[in-house]
Amino acid sequence: MPLRLFLTSGDLMADRRFEFARDLQLKGDLPAAADLLEQTIELAPNFTSAWFTLGEIRAQLGERDKAIAAFRKSRESDASDRHGAHLHLIRLGAAQLSEMPKAYVQALFDQYAPRFEHVLINDLDYRAPSLIFKAVVAARVAAKKPALFKRAIDLGCGTGLAAAAFAKQVDQFIGIDLSPGMVKEARATALYAELEVADMIEGLRARSDASANLVVAADAFVYLPDLGPVLSEARRVLAPDGVLAFTLETHDGSGIVLGEGLRYAHSAEHVRDAMAKAGLQLLTLESASPRIENNEPVRGVVVVAEKT
Ligand SMILES: C[S@@+](CC[C@H](N)C(=O)[O-])C[C@H]1O[C@@H](n2cnc3c(N)ncnc32)[C@H](O)[C@@H]1O
Repeated sequence: MPLRLFLTSGDLMADRRFEFARDLQLKGDLPAAADLLEQTIELAPNFTSAWFTLGEIRAQLGERDKAIAAFRKSRESDASDRHGAHLHLIRLGAAQLSEMPKAYVQALFDQYAPRFEHVLINDLDYRAPSLIFKAVVAARVAAKKPALFKRAIDLGCGTGLAAAAFAKQVDQFIGIDLSPGMVKEARATALYAELEVADMIEGLRARSDASANLVVAADAFVYLPDLGPVLSEARRVLAPDGVLAFTLETHDGSGIVLGEGLRYAHSAEHVRDAMAKAGLQLLTLESASPRIENNEPVRGVVVVAEKT
């Protein structure tokens, strides 16, 4: 799991109390931890990490209204919402399903970056890049077309695992990722001709029409709610015959849900609709788990589409 974000209150005494409260939380004494956090917040009323932790504890105690109030305070005290309190408000039914706070995604992956590959590959049996690779090759073989691509864009490229999987298939890779920490790791691989720290939709918008032959997103669209905007930008950027391939987490219902792991899960129906609206031809939509979580395979799909 990623390290836990801590934003100092600027008051040494309040920071110390917060640490004691965290110890109590970790030992399972949630009511005592909540009491201590309430006292801490009296000392430092804009202490974002304390509000956020109080929200988590209130939610764990089943105190929904108090949890909502604390998460709202966390969001108010840090408008960029680096803790992602908004996502907890969505989970509690107190906010509409909407975009992830960008500062939350950045903070999460900047912290995670130096040990991302170790944790994902060794502990979480991470397979999204190889699932995409195999699905793309299979789709191209079935269509009797070569699985070789001149120019590829890796959306949410992270440390570069998708570029490594496709290294022999692609002449030139461009990576786009929100997290400077992840991009720094990707740069060290020397697998990318170009790397950009940007939101993936903004990054795509800056690219010319028909300028890529392959667009991939390994375990990255799970941070987007509606897939419509990214699919239509990908279609515009792809050359005719170009391929878009990605993994998602999924669920049995309809539409999009925010899962317990704070990643979006998209229904197969949402994927089909979004593909049709974007004018992409769906070639593959297969069940495939990208990783394990809590010792269970995460339910996922691998998707391949083509610009006809
Ligand atoms: C689970 S990691 C996967 C990284 C890489 N694709 C891989 O397979 O190892 C998800 C990545 O998506 C990036 N990300 C999430 N939302 C993003 C967005 N809106 N725009 C650009 N990158 C984003 C994160 O910063 C993170 O590096």
